[in-house]
Amino acid sequence: MRFLQACRGEALDRPPVWMMRQAGRYLPEYREVRSKVSFLELCRTPELCAKVTLQPIDRFGLDAAILFSDILVVFEAMGVDVEFNPGPVVAQPVRDAAGVAALRWGDPAEEIPYVMDAVRACKAALADRVPLIGFCGAPFTTLSYLVEGRGSRDFENVKGMIFSEPLMFGQLMEKMSDLLGRYLEAQVDAGADALQIFDSWAGALSPRDYAKHVLPHTAALIERVRKTGVPVIFFARGNANLLSLAGGTTADVVGVDWSIGMDHAIETLGAQRVVQGNLDPMLLLGARETLVSRTREVVEQGRVAAGHIFNLGHGISRHTDPEMAKLMIDTVKSMGAS
Ligand code: CP3
Repeated sequence: MRFLQACRGEALDRPPVWMMRQAGRYLPEYREVRSKVSFLELCRTPELCAKVTLQPIDRFGLDAAILFSDILVVFEAMGVDVEFNPGPVVAQPVRDAAGVAALRWGDPAEEIPYVMDAVRACKAALADRVPLIGFCGAPFTTLSYLVEGRGSRDFENVKGMIFSEPLMFGQLMEKMSDLLGRYLEAQVDAGADALQIFDSWAGALSPRDYAKHVLPHTAALIERVRKTGVPVIFFARGNANLLSLAGGTTADVVGVDWSIGMDHAIETLGAQRVVQGNLDPMLLLGARETLVSRTREVVEQGRVAAGHIFNLGHGISRHTDPEMAKLMIDTVKSMGAS
């Protein structure tokens, strides 16, 4: 299948295409499902997860599906309560040794079996039409939510912890990586064909601090889950200066955000690398001609790399007109041989 071929760096006439957050509120059929259940109920109901996972596949004919879930459902295996309205809020953020001591490090396969059931339900519903991507948050991004309690602009609490209690932070990162490793392995056991690790908040740190406090743990997680045999995509967002660090991991595919041209990203990573990305999702809110020309530009730039998976440079906006997403996807597809 085209997506897995691209992950392996096989030559293709055009890149496979999928979109981060492709199942979500910009789709009326998703809003219809969501009008009856809360976001967490949706994540906890495997049949509904499969239904919404397939919505963008049926509508657009994308080349890969991504499991419908959230990077923060894993908190349930740690005894941490999180709510979504719509952004995540952790009732009791973990900021000191007592908070750390109260954390549980349960086995995701036992504590949140509904995620693995959702993987199986998606696989059954897809019937091998396209591969299914499983995912988790990277240890740093996941821990950041745990410490900050919600989205943040300055990351004062988690950075304060790194610089005042580096040993405690390091131990937390190690435990988090181990838990996430078991989580991703369970998703592969349940049938996931590829994995993506989202380090959405990587850009909160300088390259120096990312390299010292974060990357060794993330690199170890990538190395561990590669042993399952499925391709691993690593997406570190928010600072293009981190790209060479991401390229230093053994990830099969390096995700590229929209803050750097794909041509420069490939120069940085080396043309032997497989890349994923990186159209600015806000182009989907602009003029049709601009969207088409910028989509074509990313595809052309990607041809230099050993492999390219076309994607957005971050999640699709909820204000996107699905027709614009279709225009982008059809543009990528039109650049193939037939
Ligand atoms: O289609 C897909 O990509 C699969 C599903 C998916 C969701 N979240 C569904 C979701 C995936 C892969 C994620 C990952 C995720 N979740 C990330 C990493 C990717 C990124 O965007 O950087 C992060 C940081 C989160 C945490 C999170 N969950 C936030 C910040 C929010 C609020 C987002 C918003 O736009 O308001 C969520 C909630 C969430 N996760 C929604 C969806 C569809 C919206 C919930 C709703 O229906 O009300």
